[in-house]
Amino acid sequence: MSRSAPALRPYLPDDAPLLAAIFAASIMDLTGDDYSEAQQEAWAGAADDEEAFGKKLAGQLTLIATLQGAPVGFASLKGTDTIDMLYVHPSAVGQGAGSALCDALEKIASARGTKALKVDASDTALEFFRKRGYVAQQRNTVTVNDEWLANTTMQKTLDGVATPGGHA
Ligand code: ACO
Repeated sequence: MSRSAPALRPYLPDDAPLLAAIFAASIMDLTGDDYSEAQQEAWAGAADDEEAFGKKLAGQLTLIATLQGAPVGFASLKGTDTIDMLYVHPSAVGQGAGSALCDALEKIASARGTKALKVDASDTALEFFRKRGYVAQQRNTVTVNDEWLANTTMQKTLDGVATPGGHA
């Protein structure tokens, strides 16, 4: 009832341990209908090396969604045209954090002249991205920590995304 909308802020180096925890919790709690436990553990293990994980976050355009000031999710833009990561903590799903993060990355990419944004969507996030206008291009199978995981490359044309409110 008194829920507030998520706020966004840029990633800072000190955020790495917290984002690693959000990443692991999101995968272990939210993707079980689509991936086996072994796959989830391999996927979540990608943040076990917090230093490497932090470097990856810092090397991309990473945004953090907060609710009442506390980080609840994050997303990253790799290069100019790829959403690389999007993870929301299980305790905060369904409150608009994922949408706020994607809205922001789409606007930033569009403002930089990117015409189409790509994402290798997990099976769990496929419907989320489809609802936002992303169209499936191809199925992929990738190895993560010796486990094979399926995902789907999706693409969204960004024309007009930069000016949803009609400002010039
Ligand atoms: N399946 C179907 N619909 C969904 C899902 C889902 N898993 N998640 C959200 N939605 C819908 C919501 O119901 C909502 O619909 P509405 O606008 O009609 O009410 C809409 O998508 C927006 O929901 P948000 O609250 O903005 O999304 P949320 O903050 O819950 O985050 C996310 C969605 C990021 C997919 C989250 O569920 C998550 O972290 N999942 C697990 C990790 C994951 O698979 N991440 C993607 C990996 S792939 C990659 O990173 C590129």
